[in-house]
Amino acid sequence: MRRKLLTAVVMASFVLAASWALAGPPHWLKGTTDQKFSTLEKIQEALGSVMMEYNYRMTTMYYAAKGGNWGLADYQLKEAREIQEVGETTRPQFAGALKAFEQTYLDKVAASVKEKNFSKFKKAFTEMTKGCNECHANEGYPFIHYVLPKHPVAALKYKP
Ligand code: HEC
Repeated sequence: MRRKLLTAVVMASFVLAASWALAGPPHWLKGTTDQKFSTLEKIQEALGSVMMEYNYRMTTMYYAAKGGNWGLADYQLKEAREIQEVGETTRPQFAGALKAFEQTYLDKVAASVKEKNFSKFKKAFTEMTKGCNECHANEGYPFIHYVLPKHPVAALKYKP
């Protein structure tokens, strides 16, 4: 009797597992095409998460330049520009200020990275930091003040 019950339970589990495997995971995008787009829109990265990435990339870029790993510094800057584009798209109200920031500060940082000149880089980085915090103040976030950490944040090799 017990054996029969056990066999039935095992069979039922097989049937259940097989039906899940065939149907795939449950669909989470529901409704009309417009409703699905609206659901996707709501979960896009906005400025908060873009800025957290900025924080990481700029800090990593600094220590890469300091260590002489200019390839890593260049890579971080390129990735920062890419994530900024996400912010420009999902938060169009900041697009103008973000583009101005890029042209005023990031282009200078990029030039010093290209030259592999740390003293020029340091100057451009300090100016850029002022630009970061000016924007925070202008946009109503004076309490958000980027400060270069005393130590690198990423587990990467900073020397070439
Ligand atoms: C276009 C204006 C603008 C520029 C330029 C800008 N920020 Fe921001 N930043 C913001 C705004 C607005 C917020 C608040 C984000 C939110 O929650 O919507 C923010 C938030 C932040 C945060 C807090 C993120 C969190 O949620 O913990 C950090 C860190 C940050 N910025 C770093 C930087 C750094 C570093 C730079 C420069 C390399 C920079 N930001 C440049 C507008 C800007």
